[in-house]
Amino acid sequence: MFYETDKNDHGLRYNPFKSICVPRPIAWISSLSKTGVLNVAPFSQFTNVSYDPPMVVFSSSDRGNGNQKDTVQNILDTKEFVVNMATWELRDEVEITGQDVNPEVDEAKLAGLEMTPSQLVKPPRIARSPIQMECVFYSSMTVPGKKGPHHLMVGRVIGVHIKDEVIGADGKLDILKIRPLARLGYLDYTSVESLFTMLPKGPEAEAAARGRAGQT
Ligand SMILES: Cc1cc2nc3c(=O)[nH]c(=O)nc-3n(C[C@H](O)[C@H](O)[C@H](O)COP(=O)(O)O)c2cc1C
Repeated sequence: MFYETDKNDHGLRYNPFKSICVPRPIAWISSLSKTGVLNVAPFSQFTNVSYDPPMVVFSSSDRGNGNQKDTVQNILDTKEFVVNMATWELRDEVEITGQDVNPEVDEAKLAGLEMTPSQLVKPPRIARSPIQMECVFYSSMTVPGKKGPHHLMVGRVIGVHIKDEVIGADGKLDILKIRPLARLGYLDYTSVESLFTMLPKGPEAEAAARGRAGQT
């Protein structure tokens, strides 16, 4: 089959697009409003932009009435946020914090999440999340959408917390222990439950890779 996205003529019951860029990791973002109200929300349109220096980007739609989501407004106002890693174990809490509630509601309380202070930024971290990245706002860009613009928010990661228990004896992150949660299309999710390693091809690349297995 083929369909044109402007016509949306796929003939399927549900739009397949969100099931194509999958799985999407979830940035579970904590931020503070300018008056200090805590906000926690998940964003699966999320990835890293670069690793030198480490930068991340997430995309947020508008609320549809011209208002930005609280996370975007908070970051534009205060220039700081924390990306907490979402995991299989925390899946219910992730979903609870994804509710559209008004800005005065502290979603961490709603989901029963304990927060712990960050070191370099004001927004606190989700204590049970195994990895948290402290970020400062770098830049934003908007792209037009039928129901309102989408905001691409780029942040520079200035500090990373990793719980000791998810670092393996080989010095690598134990991803199978962490079970990162990821978004598929529709109402579907997945978590990382298997992995395999491949060496880059070519004798020189293979030799180099053996020396630095696991790094890019
Ligand atoms: C797993 C998950 C992923 C989500 N990803 C996005 C996303 O990428 N972009 C977006 O605009 N909203 C996304 N949402 C919806 C927001 O989390 C939701 O609108 C939330 O209420 C925004 O909160 P805020 O207004 O406190 O920032 C997602 C929700 C869930 C549960």
